[in-house]
Amino acid sequence: MLSPILSTLDARVLGLLSASLLVLLYAYSEHRSGLRKIPGPWLARISILFRFRLVWKGDAPLQYRRVHQQYGPIVRVGPKHVSIADPAMIPLIYGLGKNFTKTPFYTTMSLNYQGRRMDSMFTERDSQAHKALKSPVAQLFSMTNMRNFEVYADECTGIFMDAMRDLEGQAVDFAEWLQWYAFDVIGSITFQRRFGFMEKREDVDGMIGKINDGLEYVKLLGQVESLVRGFEFASRWKWLRRRLVPDTMERFLQITEHEVRKYDDSERRTARTDFLSQLRAKKEQSGKISPRDMVNHLSNNLLAGSDTTAIALRAIIYFIIRDARIHSKVVEEIQEADRLGKLSKAITFEECLNLTYLQAVIKEAMRVHPSVGFPLERYVPTGGAELCGYHLPAGTNVSISAPVVHMDRNIYGSDADDFRPERWLEASPEQLKLMDRSFLAFGHGSRTCIGKNISIMEMGKFVPQIFRHFEIELAEEDSEWHVHAAWFWKQSDLRVRLRARSNM
Ligand code: HEM
Repeated sequence: MLSPILSTLDARVLGLLSASLLVLLYAYSEHRSGLRKIPGPWLARISILFRFRLVWKGDAPLQYRRVHQQYGPIVRVGPKHVSIADPAMIPLIYGLGKNFTKTPFYTTMSLNYQGRRMDSMFTERDSQAHKALKSPVAQLFSMTNMRNFEVYADECTGIFMDAMRDLEGQAVDFAEWLQWYAFDVIGSITFQRRFGFMEKREDVDGMIGKINDGLEYVKLLGQVESLVRGFEFASRWKWLRRRLVPDTMERFLQITEHEVRKYDDSERRTARTDFLSQLRAKKEQSGKISPRDMVNHLSNNLLAGSDTTAIALRAIIYFIIRDARIHSKVVEEIQEADRLGKLSKAITFEECLNLTYLQAVIKEAMRVHPSVGFPLERYVPTGGAELCGYHLPAGTNVSISAPVVHMDRNIYGSDADDFRPERWLEASPEQLKLMDRSFLAFGHGSRTCIGKNISIMEMGKFVPQIFRHFEIELAEEDSEWHVHAAWFWKQSDLRVRLRARSNM
């Protein structure tokens, strides 16, 4: 008889307690954050759960666009987290000398080598340590050094084209093939090892699958800074680390060590121009690069340079073949250059830079579908910062996402949602400057992508070569690719059919 009354009371008390707790949490979080006036959903004010919601389903680029459409150019997306959609803020946050440091989100992507955390040029959060890593290798990524890498890209393009001739007329999943291509190219450029994805026509050693698994962990764990720190602390013990953190990168480190050893034992190493041999030459001259840094730089090339380039290549080809007008303009430009004798058998980097329409297509594809789909998170430095008319206290996690700013109609025009390469060719010099400054596909400022020249060279040579030799169409006219964002905004199922051009 008594129990229903008691349970009703219990429920009321429990309800009241929860409500009071929520109010207290809200008041405390508002008081502490200094972000009270910034618009955003109430859940984001008191809990990190809202950040999980943004990434959970793998559609973070769309979720971030949605919150900005609803709340405006500055939105509170977590208790101490602010997302910004105003491109004018890019130089203020990411610019040289601004001292906004990377957040622990990046630590989820650092490797563990010889029992210790190993931060790469990409994951390093400390600016001095970053500088020490970057200075000895920066020249290797320069535009002038690209000519040393072209030959490796050409070899892989040859293998790709032979395979496509073999598969002529069949439905081919370009999403897979382009990833295999990009992986083999970066392996060849880095240490002349083709992993053989294209020759074996499979995910060798499950390496791509392992990166994908690792990124799912990055996607979720990276949302909570304290959790990242906790995991990091616990990972000091090997036993715990094995249970907590998927060791997806062990294979990459083994391969890298093996390639360095093989290089050192080889007698014919002087003729090589790959990344490893250039790094070794530097070491011999200056002794600056330790064996650990060597493994660090080489393995990072593989991780930072494969998925990113594959995603951009998929986007470029997808947007070309889905639009007959754009498709024929791309092909006409290549054929015209060919007729005029402006293209070598293997198109060179220099030659592809003169294919102006193609260059606009590449840029537009990376604008509409940037390879990194997550916000680039930074901490506001000591003293705080004025952003979008608000004062953000030191320690606020602030970020801008490429998929959000790239859709800004004030910058890219009222048709910003559309894929229209001409916008890059028609813009006035001032407008073009603005469009370039708002382009975040390679990041910006002090931590901008150092591998940009490699990918521009690789994509710029590959795409015209493929369209020069093949007619490419979607295997099924109305088929759509699938996309999933876990840091990278990765596509799958891009099924195409190729036919070799008869005049080539
Ligand atoms: C289309 C291809 C690529 C895209 C879209 C891309 C994108 C990016 C972005 C957005 C960042 C900045 C991340 C941030 O600020 O949080 C970055 C940094 C970086 N990328 Fe790339 N990347 C590409 C290719 C490459 C390649 C080929 C390499 C190396 C072989 C590379 C190596 C790096 C490194 C080392 C950093 C960190 C630089 C630093 O902090 O000093 N990337 N990349």
